[in-house]
Amino acid sequence: MERMAKFSMTSSPSFTTLVFLFLIVGCTARPFYPLPSKESDGNRQPLQTSRPYNIAHRGSNGEFPEETSPAYTRAIDEGADFIETDILSSKDGVLICFHDVTLDDTTDIAEHKEFANRKRTYEVQGFNYTGFFPVDFTIKELKLLRVKQRYTFRDQQYNGKFSIITFEEFISIALDAPRVVGIYPEIKNPVFINQHVKWQGGKRFEDKFVEILKKYGYKGSYLSKDWLKQPAFIQSFAPTSLVHIANQTDLPKILLIDEVTIPTQDTNQYWEITSDNYLDYIKEYVVGIGPWKDTVVPAINNYLQAPTDLVSKAHAHDLQVHPYTYRNENKFLHFDFHEDEYQEYNYWINTIRVDGLFTDFTGSLHNFQEWTSSHTSDDEKSKLLHKIAVMVSSYEKT
Ligand SMILES: *[C@@H]1O[C@H](CO)[C@@H](O)[C@H](O)[C@H]1NC(C)=O
Ligand SMILES: *[C@@H]1O[C@H](CO)[C@@H](O)[C@H](O)[C@H]1NC(C)=O
Repeated sequence: MERMAKFSMTSSPSFTTLVFLFLIVGCTARPFYPLPSKESDGNRQPLQTSRPYNIAHRGSNGEFPEETSPAYTRAIDEGADFIETDILSSKDGVLICFHDVTLDDTTDIAEHKEFANRKRTYEVQGFNYTGFFPVDFTIKELKLLRVKQRYTFRDQQYNGKFSIITFEEFISIALDAPRVVGIYPEIKNPVFINQHVKWQGGKRFEDKFVEILKKYGYKGSYLSKDWLKQPAFIQSFAPTSLVHIANQTDLPKILLIDEVTIPTQDTNQYWEITSDNYLDYIKEYVVGIGPWKDTVVPAINNYLQAPTDLVSKAHAHDLQVHPYTYRNENKFLHFDFHEDEYQEYNYWINTIRVDGLFTDFTGSLHNFQEWTSSHTSDDEKSKLLHKIAVMVSSYEKT
């Protein structure tokens, strides 16, 4: 997930080689992830619901190329409550995890001379884009590509190692996690996808999206027993898509909100979709909003300004607020935080009081929440009990 705005944006050699081999074997020799999930025991550690959700934005993409299986497994290792993804479609209607409308910035498509004639210009939500579009490639062709890191200032060593994954492979990663990990998929560019991909039986992209969630057992309203077993939030910038699927699934939905100058896909303006009237209407369909964080706290010259009333307004309508996107690097941190990402988390969690955070660095958010948590974990409690028992028994002996 990310806004549509066009400007958006040491170890020893032998050990590194080993890690490399391990990753490559782990990700290519295995037939992706066994489908359906092999984990069905029901004894897994449940989702935490007592503190704001740690939403791994495109996986741990601060470390691994975004939306790849290692990015997601790393995020799970690091403590994500939810793994987040953007769903697009191949030409032959297979749903994939991929953010951009073109393949150019985050894959090696430029090196594939066999596809050189696929370059196109399409209009997407009011902007003309030129490049290679996933909707012009079959899933088999997309699987030939390799993903690369978006930002030059992040680790480049995994470029060319991992393929694009399908929505179903993504779901399997979550279902195979050693504890309950939720999913947070976005219905991405639905208007564009429905223009370019023909679905059987007069269906829409959104119908196919819900079908896959149902196929893997995702169902239930927010915090219901079914939901807690396999938690999921469905997100979209397009209110019409969320309304369209309302009678197909009761899974909780989140309306994404872009920066104030970008209209929604239904051409509503920012001020319309954040009005009390609109929030009253949309809360029949969604449990929360996912705003670009500058719409909650604007910044000027990289310094925070007074917060807007968006959070209090949303909370007054019983809507959660899950802003995006939190990133550790100094270039993304406002000067107010003195180059300290923990100060940023502290501000958003304890002053702004958001209900979930989309982060590129799940590990950092998790550490912050663990270190500042008011209650100790069960593990810590049992260690403490053991210590006390040892002390008591040593007294008994003397
Ligand atoms: C995109 O390009 C087409 C063809 O050149 C043009 O007709 C259209 O107005 C352009 N759209 C935008 C939003 O610039
Ligand atoms: C959902 O509602 C639409 C009309 O809004 C209707 O065409 C469709 O059949 C309904 N689907 C289900 C599963 O009830």
